[in-house]
Amino acid sequence: MNLENLVRENIKRLAPYSSARQEFAGAAEIFLDANENSFGSPLAAGYNRYPDPLQLEIKEKIARLENLKTTEIFIGNGSDEAIDLLFRIFCEPDLDEAIICPPTYGMYKVSADINAVKTKEVFLTADFQLNVQYIRKAFNKWTKLLFICSPNNPTGNLMRRAAIIKIAKSFQGIVVVDEAYVHFSGEGSMINEIKNLPNLVVLQTFSKAWGLAGLRVGLAFANEEIIALFNKVKPPYNVSQIAQEAILEAFKNREKVEKTIAEIIFEREKLIKNLSEFSFVKKIYPTDANFVLVKTINAEKIYKFLLDEKIVVRNRNSVEMCAGCLRITVGTPEENAKLLISLEKFTTKTQRPQRF
Ligand SMILES: Cc1ncc(COP(=O)(O)O)c(C=O)c1O
Repeated sequence: MNLENLVRENIKRLAPYSSARQEFAGAAEIFLDANENSFGSPLAAGYNRYPDPLQLEIKEKIARLENLKTTEIFIGNGSDEAIDLLFRIFCEPDLDEAIICPPTYGMYKVSADINAVKTKEVFLTADFQLNVQYIRKAFNKWTKLLFICSPNNPTGNLMRRAAIIKIAKSFQGIVVVDEAYVHFSGEGSMINEIKNLPNLVVLQTFSKAWGLAGLRVGLAFANEEIIALFNKVKPPYNVSQIAQEAILEAFKNREKVEKTIAEIIFEREKLIKNLSEFSFVKKIYPTDANFVLVKTINAEKIYKFLLDEKIVVRNRNSVEMCAGCLRITVGTPEENAKLLISLEKFTTKTQRPQRF
């Protein structure tokens, strides 16, 4: 892979914005360089100063944990920002292509569409694994990105690591492995592979296992050259001061994250067992995530019934390969119990003999 050949011409030529906080990041007494409001704000905490554009304190923590350099980490406004940046860095609008493997996370296609990039769909196999042969056939000289979601949303399963590595080795473009749900799986991350695979970008997020979806903080891991491109293209202050402070605070309580993951996995297994006892459940797909994909005999009816019960699940009935499916996030023990009671109600109602 030659990175030079992959990057868009305008991005190669781009003179990136240099923010005040990038030009001077040292200790001074008076900051009159960024047109901030020196008088403060209506908030006691202030927030009148721009945040660190490169979020170095957070990166140092993650780098230590993952045995990486800070320059191998990008932090974004959710991993959705990283997905969008990948298109903006690598894909020439109306010319280049990206491969996605449906059924999968919808933002890959939406981001591609926003950036006027054609997507080629290589559907997963019947057991929701990568179709390596067809993916390889789909590559051409315009294919710049391949998105692999593992564990996959909405199916829940991990993709085989050997298959990902095999594909990455034979592909001249960038292979993006989205690990939003990896912390709920038995398998480790592919982050350590970025040293061996120069075209690998691994995405993770604070929105799932860390429980911090409201902060909007996501991560991309890749070699220094690729991360430098992310930094070149991203908006100057893409992660807010509040978000950066909250992430640093969250690092002080990593035990809570570990505990929550264990609880979610425990609840997930209980939920699977309980759901499998309903007669309307045709299949529960194996999951490595914090949700389960459940194939039912009538997804629309169950979905609407649950809404009347004030419970929202994700209706995936109209998604190709997911007909009849509902995607159910694992909730707290109380939430799961309420869900099961409502589903019990649904069963009794639909099984009640008709009166003539
Ligand atoms: C597979 C996958 N990737 C990325 C995201 C987006 O994550 P973030 O909240 O970091 O933007 C989601 C959100 O549901 C997801 O399912």
